[in-house]
Amino acid sequence: MKKLKRLKGSVDSAKIKAVKGMNDILPEGIGVTRPVGEWQRVEDVFRRVFGLYAYQEVRTPVIEETGLYARVIGEATDIVGKEMYTFLDRGGKKSFSLRPEGTAGVVRAYMEHSVSSRDPITKWWYSGPMYRYERVQAGRYRQFYQVGAEAIGVAEPTIDAELLVMLDGLLRRELGIQDVELYINTLGDGKDRQDYTAALRGYLGKYLAELCEDCSRRYEVNPLRALDCKVATCQPILEAAPLIEGSLSLEARKHFEVVLSLLSARNVQVKIKPRLVRGLDYYNRTCFEFVAGGLGAQNTICAGGRYDGLVETLGGPSTPAIGFAAGVERLLMAMGASSSASDGPDIFYVAVGEEAIPYCFNLVEEARSSGLRADMDLRAGSVKSQMRRADKQKSRFVAVIGDTEVSVGAVQLKDMRVGELVDGGPFEFSVLPQKVEQLLEDGE
Ligand code: HAM
Repeated sequence: MKKLKRLKGSVDSAKIKAVKGMNDILPEGIGVTRPVGEWQRVEDVFRRVFGLYAYQEVRTPVIEETGLYARVIGEATDIVGKEMYTFLDRGGKKSFSLRPEGTAGVVRAYMEHSVSSRDPITKWWYSGPMYRYERVQAGRYRQFYQVGAEAIGVAEPTIDAELLVMLDGLLRRELGIQDVELYINTLGDGKDRQDYTAALRGYLGKYLAELCEDCSRRYEVNPLRALDCKVATCQPILEAAPLIEGSLSLEARKHFEVVLSLLSARNVQVKIKPRLVRGLDYYNRTCFEFVAGGLGAQNTICAGGRYDGLVETLGGPSTPAIGFAAGVERLLMAMGASSSASDGPDIFYVAVGEEAIPYCFNLVEEARSSGLRADMDLRAGSVKSQMRRADKQKSRFVAVIGDTEVSVGAVQLKDMRVGELVDGGPFEFSVLPQKVEQLLEDGE
């Protein structure tokens, strides 16, 4: 009975709120989120840049069979072990999970639709909400948005470099995030990882009594994860641990060197971080993180790497691949709180008197047909209250329409940014939208 009540949800009179760690994103932004307009700007930049690099959009379901994530991300990872929203379907037989990341679903779709038989190279991008039951804090949520891309079919280091050049330019130039560093490492291939895991386990085994509880567990299941530990007492032990470099094959080493030299030729600054490991098991060779300043603990805004063994793990042929995902909330935080881009109307019409209302109604529609963001206060109160509304909506220009304007068919434009009338008025109604457009273009 109690369980049923829990499943049906609370029925008491307490107000129902959004689930903890899941945010509403409102037009004006509130609490931890930024205004919707800033989200759109970020999404627009990614869409445009992905287009330049010949990535195509793909959309996959937010729910997949739990087994997919267990196989792709790894049973021993925190994500699969502790953070997934998992449930049985109504038949009670199949287990599904809300996606904790995008790569698994994208690779599943790639294989399910035999995409490689149509084209040996696939470049796909995606965006949308992801779900992880994590400890909630600034920059870490239980529903968060990612924009990501996967390039499947190219083994050469040139694709690693192309992806990183694209991201570096996108973050710095297009989104204006200057205080960002690119950390990069290579994890080698399967055999290198095995050798390294053995070396690391041999080393950590000597310090089991001193390691934190999590690291003792990682020692058993995946010693590489210990390198990511933040507990202070583990740091001196981890700092002296053997590095992957000693276990790398010649090919893996060469691959990494080529990536680094291509990046250097494009002036992309990197910091090699030999202990960089990631929270997902599928990576090999190149892995990377873009870390932004001033964000506190959750400062990785974008991360990814190669996963050449993943398609094979899922029963397909050996297929090289690389990808990344960026956290949109964290990008917005890194871009700063500047919500200077106004989403307000380009022109706001104020009606003086009853008769001007249908006239304004018409003018607003005409302005909209010309592609302008136009509005009026449909409650049509006093001129003062309409002006207040124009102001509150951050309107750029205001046109006040009364008997005189209607009879001469022209109106003055008030530039709300400077609080003055635009020179050269009054402007005929027929040319008003073009005039506003021109003023906006001139940046006046
Ligand atoms: P990830 O490192 O788990 O990689 O996540 C990528 C980015 O998503 C992080 O750098 C961060 O910006 C954001 N992120 C992750 N968890 C949270 C959270 N709880 N709250 C807010 N933001 C978060 C992946 O997901 C891989 N699928 C990336 C990839 C694609 N690798 C290859 N292809």
